Amino acid sequence: MTRRIRKAVFPVAGLGTRVLPATKMVPKEMLTVVDRPVLQHCVEEAREAGIEHFVFVTGRNKAVIEDHFDLAYELEDTLRKRGKTKELEALLADTPAAGATSFTRQQAPLGLGHAVWCARDIIGDEPFAVMLPDMITLPGQRGTRCLGQCIEAYEKHGGNIIAVEEVPPADTHMYGVVSVGADHGHTFQINGMVEKPPRGTSPSNLIISGRYILGPEVFGILANVEKGAGGEIQLTDGMKKLAEKQVFHGVRFDGKTYDTGSKVGFLAANVAFALSRPDIAPAFRAELKKIVGSL
Ligand code: G1P
Repeated sequence: MTRRIRKAVFPVAGLGTRVLPATKMVPKEMLTVVDRPVLQHCVEEAREAGIEHFVFVTGRNKAVIEDHFDLAYELEDTLRKRGKTKELEALLADTPAAGATSFTRQQAPLGLGHAVWCARDIIGDEPFAVMLPDMITLPGQRGTRCLGQCIEAYEKHGGNIIAVEEVPPADTHMYGVVSVGADHGHTFQINGMVEKPPRGTSPSNLIISGRYILGPEVFGILANVEKGAGGEIQLTDGMKKLAEKQVFHGVRFDGKTYDTGSKVGFLAANVAFALSRPDIAPAFRAELKKIVGSL
């Protein structure tokens, strides 16, 4: 029996040291890809997948995130008075309904596992999604983005779901990595996982790419998990423990993922997302051709 996945946790307390100085005063999740913050792309992916409640685990100096997902009275009033109906309607359509967001703080940077654990009371006793907002996705042939494909897999297999993707073997040490059991192509049973395996020890080149569906039992485990890779409380270690009792499936995401937490990934995301927008793509493609032609 599966239950509806209604809530998603967005861990947004990270410092963004890979994109300094941009993130000195602006949270990395608020940097824009095309015309909206990275985090809004993630929230849109969640909404498309049927998520109804958005749980943000923030930190100090991140208050602007809370404001971004609220009404902006003065701006909206001005747009209304100036007759800018299209802009106003777009803003209002993007704003989550009253009561559909929750914000809690991770008081100290103790790791992703600790950040997710901070959401335990808001999630309660139901399966939920986790979305790492550095990673933003565009759909492939299936037409849905990554979280949508994870929820589809959850409805089919139940249990817990982790989205994965292939990276060159030389890069696996930077990620969580899973090993493959019974393989069904688009999905497979996960029979092992490890966070940031030392070079040359990775069980596969399938990395955990930032979308999860987890049972609430993970919270009790995360409360007791020891510090792991990098001296942090790792979500992967909590999931590994949960996998002793519950099934985990991997989803090979059909689409493209961009890591906006790195400078090159951020730039690539801007190009790809601009090219995916019918309103911007024609003019942007022409500009891009000029640049590429001069390389
Ligand atoms: C986190 C997860 C890791 C995952 C990665 C994806 O690591 O712990 O399993 O592969 O995100 O970006 P971090 O990037 O926080 O070091």
